Amino acid sequence: MAEPILQIKGISKEFSKVRVLNNIRVDIERGEIFGIIGENGAGKSTLIKIISGIYVPTEGELYFEDKKITDFNPQTARELGINLIPQEFNLINELNVFENIFLGKEYQKSILLDKKKMIKKAEDLLSMLQKEIKPTDKIQDLSVAKKQMIEIAKALAYESKLLIMDEPTTVLTGSEIELLFKLMNRLKKKGVTIIYISHKLKEVREICDRVMVLRDGEQIEIEDTQNIDEHKMATSMVGRELSQVFPEKNQPSQETVLKVENLSVRGLLDDISFDLKKGEILGFAGLVGAGRTELAETLIGIRKKESGKIFIHGKEVHIKNPTDAVKHNLAYLSEDRQGTGIITSFDMTGNITLNSLRDYCKVLINHKKERETTKKYVESFNIKAASLKTKLEFFSGGNQQKVSLAKSLDTQPEIFIVDEPTRGIDVNAKREIYHFLKQLASNGIACIFISSELEEILGMCTRVVVMREGHITGILDEDEMTEKEIMLYATGLKGVA
Ligand SMILES: Nc1ncnc2c1ncn2[C@@H]1O[C@H](COP(=O)(O)OP(=O)(O)OP(=O)(O)O)[C@@H](O)[C@H]1O
Ligand SMILES: [Mg+2]
Repeated sequence: MAEPILQIKGISKEFSKVRVLNNIRVDIERGEIFGIIGENGAGKSTLIKIISGIYVPTEGELYFEDKKITDFNPQTARELGINLIPQEFNLINELNVFENIFLGKEYQKSILLDKKKMIKKAEDLLSMLQKEIKPTDKIQDLSVAKKQMIEIAKALAYESKLLIMDEPTTVLTGSEIELLFKLMNRLKKKGVTIIYISHKLKEVREICDRVMVLRDGEQIEIEDTQNIDEHKMATSMVGRELSQVFPEKNQPSQETVLKVENLSVRGLLDDISFDLKKGEILGFAGLVGAGRTELAETLIGIRKKESGKIFIHGKEVHIKNPTDAVKHNLAYLSEDRQGTGIITSFDMTGNITLNSLRDYCKVLINHKKERETTKKYVESFNIKAASLKTKLEFFSGGNQQKVSLAKSLDTQPEIFIVDEPTRGIDVNAKREIYHFLKQLASNGIACIFISSELEEILGMCTRVVVMREGHITGILDEDEMTEKEIMLYATGLKGVA
């Protein structure tokens, strides 16, 4: 029998009398990779925040290496060897990579900082994760995937006995996830214990030894991953059988809504041409760095195009900023939820109606109408929140994402660009979002669907544009669309790159 490193004994947590975790009890063994799954708001992040000393439990006890934890704070946890890679980034944009990695644990040489040593150590850490990041890069210039790698490197800079990862792969794609899993297996061999939270059930099955299912703060079951498949995991999370995940596809009309001709942005996009039909959900696939987000940002006027033309209903348009985009009935759901998606110090209504506020104004803001709209989205996306007035900073990660989606939808766009809309979202809510997008398409809305999950591109789209390093390498029709074929274009083995 392996020895437990962490014993969780009847842990419960309440926020202002609302119970979000109830009587969690489990022994986590030294050197295992222990998965935690559950719907958005199930209590996963809350549990690991207790373990890493960020929250104090309302009830129950924790024992780490047979010693009872009496003092819940992050510093104490770190001294014990417990480190957390949080769900939401915690980086300082103005500082560079190595400064962020060593923040609060700087190497010193007498009274001065030992920059050289920190840069060297940062290089070593990064070489295990993502070779393209330089220790002296500024955080604000990095993509979300790279920011995620910095968060991981930050935690690795400490010697950990227990490493906790809260959805580390949501923003990563194939090869990066592979690198991370290799690293996790290496750490495991060295005896490091890992707690791993994810909504990607396939990955949970692949990397974890055991998995715990949480539902509404209750511990539902703990299973060896050998004995539980993805379907069972999903059913256990939701508490009932899930009906079909993907809706039937909508057949788009022949009418072109958006036409992009030879669009280029220096260093980012090169000669992009495609068209988008009314009622179409057009997939955009590619690896990280393929330029899909940059393309979306150029279409809605965040980035300046260098050359090329954009037509909406056959008329050339000049979109210079996001306000112009809204005027042309273009909406964009950003992949960077924390950076540009939502304002966490506002409540739900404040966020959802942020871009559509003029629809609620006739001299004064119509708060009743605003609240009704909010309630509508809460229902259709099953958004879990204490109240309509709760600030978004207290929402679980997935529920923040749902609000972000509601916000971009509320502008009633004609062209809707969604960038990784289901990132960090549980299986059930994903299904809701797919059906919602299909509904939009049936109503004639044209949709650009950027996703790194090929499964959802194949499940939702009738055509897919594949990009690589700022170029389009192929546009595939439904009969040519397979995971393998898309990957061949995405990696440049097929098509012109
Ligand atoms: N600081 C807080 N104050 C008030 N309520 C909170 C706070 N933190 C979390 N909650 C609530 O506790 C519940 C559980 O949230 P938690 O973040 O643990 O969910 P989760 O399982 O991590 O979900 P997700 O998959 O969306 O990240 C949610 O209803 C959330 O709104
Ligand atoms: Mg969470």
